[in-house]
Amino acid sequence: MLSQYDNPPVETARVEHLTDSEFERTCSYLARTYGLNMESKRVLLECRLSRERDRLGLPSFAAYLDVVESGRDPQACERFVNLVTTHYTYFLRESGQFDFIAKTAFPELLAKRPDRPWNVLCAGCSTGEECYGLSMLVEDFARTRSLPPVRITGLDVSKPSIEEARAAVYPAARVDKVPARWLRSYFSERDGSFAVADHVRSRVSFAQGNLADPNALRRTYDLVLCRNVIIYFNDEVRDRAIGMLHDHLAPSCYLVLGHAEIVRERTLFAYRGNSIYQKQPKANLS
Ligand SMILES: C[S@@+](CC[C@H](N)C(=O)[O-])C[C@H]1O[C@@H](n2cnc3c(N)ncnc32)[C@H](O)[C@@H]1O
Repeated sequence: MLSQYDNPPVETARVEHLTDSEFERTCSYLARTYGLNMESKRVLLECRLSRERDRLGLPSFAAYLDVVESGRDPQACERFVNLVTTHYTYFLRESGQFDFIAKTAFPELLAKRPDRPWNVLCAGCSTGEECYGLSMLVEDFARTRSLPPVRITGLDVSKPSIEEARAAVYPAARVDKVPARWLRSYFSERDGSFAVADHVRSRVSFAQGNLADPNALRRTYDLVLCRNVIIYFNDEVRDRAIGMLHDHLAPSCYLVLGHAEIVRERTLFAYRGNSIYQKQPKANLS
């Protein structure tokens, strides 16, 4: 079964070349709509979109872009954004950040908010491993303490990724970095696949959303992970998305980015190392 986690196979597809104007049009649409900077990804776009153009029986990329830009075929639009985005992820990716969350972020939250539900956001959650890994961390943390309800929301622009995340069933190769104790306690094995246990799933929900949309978020979060997502954005949308995440993060709470990602605006957060940023308390903001 092909997963969103895998890049689509291109070896059997006939790869067509984008003309310069088709390439510029594709980049401009992706930048405008999703904030994606694909200017150095011409070959990747050609490989990933050729098969889809063939599937739709369209005579040129220009005709394909007409379909996508017009929005008249919502499924084609969903497939387009899913094909151009990268969904690579795995359980406990950048494990040092999970250690920080368990040893620093959760204890601080418990001290500050012992009674009120905690809201956690995974922005750009792909196929769900990040959200479920966090939920397993919550399970461990709750073994020795009484916690308020914890709600983990996974948000991603890709509908197929969200569907796969909701299914919460992973083949053995996708759980190979999961510690044995977690595999035993938080999964059940069915026909060689591993299903996330109901009690771990129950605090996680998923929504389709676009981080380039300034209204993508509604609530305030007590912890935000947005890892390996803004690296694909152009400067303008990257800064805007960071501003939006900042606006929706509670004071003194943490924003966790991917290791190749930084916040350029220095007044918003204090840097805590390991690509982890702490929102400045309100009093310190001008
Ligand atoms: C490389 S994955 C990262 C998954 C996970 N956060 C991790 O670090 O393992 C990037 C995800 O960001 C999503 N994404 C890209 N652009 C987005 C946007 N504008 N809004 C929301 N999600 C987006 C992609 O669909 C993809 O699933």
